[in-house]
This record gives sequence, C-alpha cells and structure tokens, in this order.
Amino acid sequence: MIKNISVIEGDGIGPEIIRQTMKVLNSIAIKYGHNFHYKNILAGSKAIEKFGDPMPEETIDNCFKSDAVLFGCIGDPKHDHNPRGMRPEDGLLKLRKKMNLYCNIRPVVVYPNLDKSPIKKELLNEVDFIIYRELTGGIYFGEKGRCKNGEKAYDYCIYSKSEIEKIGEMAFKAALFRKKKVTLVDKANVLETSRLWREVIKKISLDYSDVSLDFLYIDNASMQIIMNPKKFDIILTDNMFGDILSDESSVLTSSVGLLPSASIGDHKSMFEPIHGSYPQAKGKNIANPLGCILSGSMMLEYFGMHQEKNLLEKAVKHSIEKKICTQDIIDSKFSSTTEEVGNYIEKYILNQ
Ligand code: IPM
Ligand code: MN
Repeated sequence: MIKNISVIEGDGIGPEIIRQTMKVLNSIAIKYGHNFHYKNILAGSKAIEKFGDPMPEETIDNCFKSDAVLFGCIGDPKHDHNPRGMRPEDGLLKLRKKMNLYCNIRPVVVYPNLDKSPIKKELLNEVDFIIYRELTGGIYFGEKGRCKNGEKAYDYCIYSKSEIEKIGEMAFKAALFRKKKVTLVDKANVLETSRLWREVIKKISLDYSDVSLDFLYIDNASMQIIMNPKKFDIILTDNMFGDILSDESSVLTSSVGLLPSASIGDHKSMFEPIHGSYPQAKGKNIANPLGCILSGSMMLEYFGMHQEKNLLEKAVKHSIEKKICTQDIIDSKFSSTTEEVGNYIEKYILNQ
C-alpha cells in the first residue's frame, strides 16, 4: 500500500521522537512491502517564527491532502505569553477543530515488568482501559474573553446533542469488542453540559443492550483511577476531563511518555502521543519515543494494517521486556537513549 503521511514534528522533543517513529514505521514498510511517503510540515513555535502563525493554512491544506497526520508534540516556554491564538498550543487546537477530530482515543495499558509507577503493584495487574475524550468541543472551544478592564475572564463550556452522540456511538462500538463496559465521567451534580451528556448517552445505551453503562463524577473518577484502575474498560468523557484524566492515568503505566492516542474525525485522522513537548529534555536524546511510536501503531490499525500493528506492538513489548528503555521507565543507570530504543525496535522488526 502507498500512504501519504503528513508529519508535524512540533516543538521540544518532537523531532527526536518523530525520527524514531519514522524509523520504526519504515521497518514495517520494508517488511510488508508498503510505501510510506512523509511530508514534513510546520506548526507550533517553528511556524510562529517562520510565518507568524502557529497553524498556517499551508499546513492545514497538507493535512487534508494526506492519508493521515503524525504529530509529535507542541509547546515552547518562549511563547507562553503570546496573545490568545498565537501560542503553539493554539495551533494544535485549530488543527483538531479544522479537521473535525472529535474523538480522541487514549489507551492505558500497564506493562507488567515496569515498576516506576508510585502506585502499589497489586493494584496494577491487568489494567487495560481506554479513554474516549471528546476533542473539538467543550470549554476548550467555547467563547472566551476578558471584561472589566481585563480583571474578569470567562471560558464558556458548550456541548450540543450531536457532538455528544458522535463520540458516544464510537465509545459504545469500541466497548462491544472489549469488556462491554462504558463509564461516563462528568460533573452532573453541578454542570448543565454534564446533564446533557447523561441524557444523550443514556439514550444511546438503549441500542447497546450488551454493554453496561455507569456514571462517575470527575472528582470520584480521579480517585477510582488510582484506587481501583482494573474496574475500567471504556471511560467516556468531555474534552477537559479527558485531558486531565489521561495524564493522571499515565501514572499507572510508569510514564506519560508511554501513552499514544488517535484523534479520529469523519474523514481524516491524526496520531499524537498524549504528552507535551518536554522542553527541558530537548536535544538530550533521553525522551521516551514509545508514546509516539505507539501512536504510529494506532495509525497502522487505522490503515487496516492489523498484522503490521501487531508486529510493531510485539516489538515494543519486547524492548520493554529486555529493558531497552529510556530513563523515565527504568533505573537511569541501565537506561537507553531515545535513539537506542528506536534502533532496537527497528532491528527487532526487520529480524522477524
Ligand atoms: C493533550 C495536550 C493538549 C490538550 C495541549 C497541548 C493543548 O495537553 O493533547 O493532552 O490540552 O489537549
Ligand atoms: Mn494533555
């Protein structure tokens, strides 16, 4: 198969983790006779510096023309105080919105031989859930602004029935192939948007009699994820709660550097690790490339390349078992560099 992939390295450790991901994807292409054509395009701080815009039209056009977008990470302290719309993060949000990537899928899997999580080991065996995070609505995208000479600020949280239905359907469909359980996380004791989420999701659940549905308030869910993470299968939630819960959940796995995601729209999709740009590690060859590599694996699945995805994931598991890992997930005395991890996985795939 030929696939055209737009690549946005982004900021901080982005270029380093993307380099390893492309290396690994290329080994899959060699193994299975595919042709992956990459086009590097700019977003975030590099685009601000070159075009005065964190998400130039040209970048958006390229994403629309390609079969998928592979995204590194975005954010640079240099631009933290830019005006609204001009921060690197604004570029990412604009792209998600323009491409209508409303469903962000964030799997949380614990690898048995990692022990960097501060959570008790006995709570972690067999943790395997997925967060379905709504990605193009809610407080992220509602009207925002200042009044009273800048001394008052507001961010509106707005959801429509159709926005909730779209991601709701995806979450229930996914549950059918798993443990058949959806947990809606919200704050329905306080927020009107959450009440609408409950109404809409309850209605959808009537079409999925095999799937059980339960509800948790976000405050309680944050606690349950640490105290009893095994009980979750699919967590369905809004944009803001999903953002927070996914970083929290990554603590179960040992590192935020391990978690991939797929951002799915009706026609286009993007694949992005959940972590930020980790500017302190930029250029040091210490960042964990696995969140990005596993996002690549979610891209393979999206292309319908199931064997390819399985092999890539087997290679990642193998690298973890053999402790070819960056310092965030094993003792730094024995750790490998970003590049060594990529090389190991590449070699493993080519030797299969
Ligand atoms: C994420 C990130 C982004 C978000 C930032 C960089 C805007 O934290 O993908 O989780 O908040 O969605
Ligand atoms: Mn986040």
